[in-house]
This record gives sequence, structure tokens and C-alpha cells, in this order.
Amino acid sequence: MAAFFDEETIENVREANPIEDVIGSYVHLQRKGSNMMGLCPFHNEKTPSFSVSPSRQIFYCFGCHAGGNVFTFLMKYENMTFPESVRVLAERAGITLPEREESDEDRRWRSEREQILSINKDAANYFYLALKSDEGKDAYSYLRSRNLSDETIKSFGLGYSRKFRDDLYKYLKEKGYPDELLLKSGIISFKEETGIHDLFWNRVMFPIQDMNGKVIGFGGRVMGEGKPKYVNSPETDVFQKSRNMYALFIARKTKRDHFLLCEGYMDVIALHQAGYENALASLGTALTEGHCTLMKRFGKKVMICYDSDEAGQNAAKRAVPMLRSAGIGCYVIDLSPYKDPDEFIKALGASEFDKRIEEAENGFLFTVRKTSEKYDLRDPGEKTRFFSEVARMLLTLEAGVERGSYLSSVAERFNVSERDLKDLLIRESEELSRKPVKRYSAIDPEKTETSYEYDNSPLSSKEPSEHIARGMAETFRMFLQFLCFYPSMLERSSPFISEEDFPGIYRDIYKVIEKELLSGHKINPASIISHFPDEKGQQEAGRIFSYTGEEYDSSEARGKAFKEVLLRIKKERLAKLSGGSGESADKVFSALMDERRKLSDIQRTEFVI
Ligand code: GTP
Ligand code: MN
Repeated sequence: MAAFFDEETIENVREANPIEDVIGSYVHLQRKGSNMMGLCPFHNEKTPSFSVSPSRQIFYCFGCHAGGNVFTFLMKYENMTFPESVRVLAERAGITLPEREESDEDRRWRSEREQILSINKDAANYFYLALKSDEGKDAYSYLRSRNLSDETIKSFGLGYSRKFRDDLYKYLKEKGYPDELLLKSGIISFKEETGIHDLFWNRVMFPIQDMNGKVIGFGGRVMGEGKPKYVNSPETDVFQKSRNMYALFIARKTKRDHFLLCEGYMDVIALHQAGYENALASLGTALTEGHCTLMKRFGKKVMICYDSDEAGQNAAKRAVPMLRSAGIGCYVIDLSPYKDPDEFIKALGASEFDKRIEEAENGFLFTVRKTSEKYDLRDPGEKTRFFSEVARMLLTLEAGVERGSYLSSVAERFNVSERDLKDLLIRESEELSRKPVKRYSAIDPEKTETSYEYDNSPLSSKEPSEHIARGMAETFRMFLQFLCFYPSMLERSSPFISEEDFPGIYRDIYKVIEKELLSGHKINPASIISHFPDEKGQQEAGRIFSYTGEEYDSSEARGKAFKEVLLRIKKERLAKLSGGSGESADKVFSALMDERRKLSDIQRTEFVI
């Protein structure tokens, strides 16, 4: 599995890096019983549900179910691959890793993610060279005409994709990448009629880098007018639009106390060129909760500098409550009469922009002002409705000082007495207590959070993964948790249950646990987690091991629960088998008979744990 380093090396590195120390350097942790608790860095929350177990050397979030060992944490937090996390932690502990030349074997073993990153890097390089070549002349002058200096072009790695349909494909093939991987990278696509072709033709290219500066995708812009204006790489395991932001890898190092949040790549680049290394943007999508969680880590305020047109202002109005509920202080910059930061800088330069930063409007007050524009405040009826809406907005703020001070500001701005506004507040809160309040931070980890405003990518490289119903996932987890906590139950279950009963990742985890138990080892959660080189596997294993075994109060109750779990697994298997599995009929028939017999055997057995 994790072949780049041998198991022993990985264990050494892991043991030399106590998880509570490593995570403690990113997240403020407080001891609570045998665990340490803190605010989860992977979703937005106000009360801690993120736990680190020093005894088990794992972390787990009860809110969003992120979990795993010390490697998983770095992979998730820093967007690293498994080998990268091993290397970083080895260095942290002063362990020298056995460095080897990369053999063919290693190459095969290297995680898919790493290979896709390598494809992206080669592609970025290719685009950059093309921009500098003869054929790239128009693209180069386009970028220059937009006031970008050579230095800026270089530092953002801007490039050019040629006019041919499979130019990049041929180049990457020559480098030895297989088709399958190229398609997974998203920058090469396949169409029935035309075959394999490049995603980007005749566009200026913006490489998109992750937090650590690795190229994870591209945006390509037409030169001048034309539709679509931008083509962006589709989402892949490597390129997750909600977990990355354009130029974050530079902006994160800023010494200023705020980020400048823009809409477009060009805005970000223009601001950087003008000396604002703290500018960043979401990636061709509207701002999501994921982006807020990501920015929150850096403890900065956010100054929104979206376009001054209606679309931009509406987007700002949506962004403010999201940022606020992530606990980020936010402000909105007024760019009028210019359309966006790029044009503003071009027209007035940095010193004027500094003034706009200084004059930025408080986010909450901005949303109130925007709301007021929907109403004709000269009309008494509308005015009442407006203040009722404002009262509801005030109710989303934390009661106390915060709400009080905004209430005063609003009252002053809109010429209404604080007294009247307070009365409205009470009335609205009574009204609302009859209906549930809609909150931004409802977490549903099984639902993806990405929201797309535009996505014109022709082909998504994501393959449909094996579908596992939510209830069944929980059943598989419970079974594996039983095994970890009560290893003797393996003996009781093995007449009935085998690896074939488990789909996907659960099968892998079952196999690892079974192997450990059969060879007489004690289950070491943190060590087992390292068997899974990808984050998903580590997370699922982490979730299983985070179980504390405290749910049942008697051994009968436990036994009954165990039996129930076995039955559910068997029934699922039977359902899958009779649903047709591509096997020959008589084979299926004998398997069905077999499984039915096991099911009734389970039904007749008493389990006591
Ligand atoms: P310029 O028009 O060159 O100044 O680019 P811009 O970066 O300022 O773009 P704009 O403000 O029009 O759009 C903001 C962002 O939305 C862009 O940077 C893209 O990420 C995204 N976007 C804009 N148009 C499209 C489109 O047609 N398709 C896709 N997929 N994304 C787009
Ligand atoms: Mn623009």
C-alpha cells in the first residue's frame, strides 16, 4: 500500500510525532478527560467538537466526521499527499528518511494524486513555454495589453494553450503518462465524435495552485471577446474548488491583518502587481462555506472587493453572512465608478485603493444598506416592512454587546429610535420562535458543499463511486468497531462474515483488521490508519477507531446489537446477490443458498459480548 517508505519507517515517523503536539500547533486544544478538544479546522463551528486522543493517537470530529492519524491531519489541513506528510513529519522529528531513486515500481505505487500533480506541473510548464514561443505572440501581447509585467506573468506562471486540438495531449503522452491518468487530470477530455483532445485551445492560461503552491488545475481565458470567457478545469480529487482559493498560497503569508477577496483571476493578479500580496479569489464558483473555513484558519479579516455591478454586489450580500457565521470579520470595499479592482487600479492606482480599504463598510451594515434599497422608505408601509426585516437580521447576531452595537448603528443610520427598533426585535423574535431559524452552518457531511455558478467543463473526470446507502455505511462501521473493541468477536463472526460482505473501503479496512487480529496483534488504530494512502480511507478508518464503546450498558445489549449488525450485513449481501452481479446463474444460485443458510444460522445464534 504505502510503498514509498516501508512500514517500519512510517511507524517510526508516526511515533516520533505525538498527534497532540502536531495538531496543537495548528488548533488550540484543551484537555477534557482523556481527550483534547478544540474547534474543528475542517468545518465552521462555535463549540468544540474536534477531539484528539493522545492514547489512541487519532483525531476525530463529531460534527463533520473528519478523522484519522497524524498523517491524515496534515494531508487534510495542508492538502498534502501521504508521502509528503511522512516527509514533513520526519523532518519535524529529525528523522532522516532513506532516500531512493524513483524506480518503475515506485512510480506505479505513487498515489494517483501525485501523478496528476505531476501532469499539471508539466502542463503548466508547457503552457508557459508556449507563451514565450513565436506562436504565443498574440497571447503575450494580450497579457501585456492588460498591463501585466513580465515579472507578474512569470510569478503567476501564466501561459498559452496553442490552437491545436491535441497539442498538449501529445506532449504529455511523450512524457509517458497513460491515457487513463490524463483523463483523470481533467485537462484532457474525451468525446465520442472527436476522440481524445485537450480541454484548452487558444487561450491564455492561469495555473491554479493549492495552498502549498502545487498546480492543481487551470483557468483559460479567451483573448478578447468570445464565449465562454473562461474554461476551468473540472473538479477532480486533486482540484476541489471549495477547498482551494486562487493565490492563497501567496496571500496566506501576508503580514497585513486582512485578505482582499476578489471575484476574478485578473483582479487578484492586478492587485498583487500593485503590491497587495493579500488578494485572493474563489475558483470560478461563488463563495462557499469551505472557502470560509479555509480563510478562517489564517485569522485574518476579509475585505470583499467584488465587482461594483449588480451581480457583484449581490454576491457580496450573500458572502457577508457566510463569512460572519464562520467567525470572520468582514468589510465591503466600494469600487465605484470602476467595475472591478483591476480597472480601479488601472485608473487610480494603489494610493486611492488604500483609501477605499480604509473606508470599507462593515459587512453587516452593508447588507442592511443593500436591503434598504429594495424598499421605498418614503412609503410608511414599506418602511415598516424594511425595519422588520432588519430586526430579523439583527436576530442572527449574537445577543449582547454585538447585537446592541449594531442596533445603535442601524438606528442612527436610518433615523429610527433605538427603542422602536428594540420593540420590533422582540416582536420578530416571538414570531420566529414559532418557526425554526435557518442557519448557515448546518452540517451534512454526506452532502457536498460545493456550489457552482458556472461550470462549462465538458467532461467530469469523477467516476461514479460504488454506491453505499448511508444506513449501510453505518452498519459496516459498527461491525468494524465491534471487532476493534472486542477482538474475540472475530472468531464468532467469521463463520458467517467474510470480506466479500463488504464493499469498497470497508472491505479494505476489514482485511487489515482481520489480518492484524489473526496474527495476534493488538489493534493499534493510528498504525492501521497509515495502511491507507489516501485521505478518504484514512478518514473512514479514523471514524471507526474513534468509537469509544460506551453505548451499551450490558453484555446482552451488546450481543443483541452485534447480532443485529450481522443480520443487516447478511441481508444486504443477499439483496446484492439477487439483484444480479454479472456472475453465471448457477454460481449465483449456490452463493445465494450459502448466504441464506448463514443468515438463518445467525438468527439462531446467541451472542454475548
Ligand atoms: P477579465 O474579464 O479578463 O477581467 O476577467 P475576470 O477574472 O475579471 O473575470 P470576471 O470578473 O468576468 O469573472 C470572475 C471569475 O468568474 C473569473 O475569474 C472566472 O473564475 C469566473 N468566470 C467568469 N466567466 C466565466 C465563464 O464563462 N466560465 C467559467 N467557468 N467561469 C467564468
Ligand atoms: Mn475583470
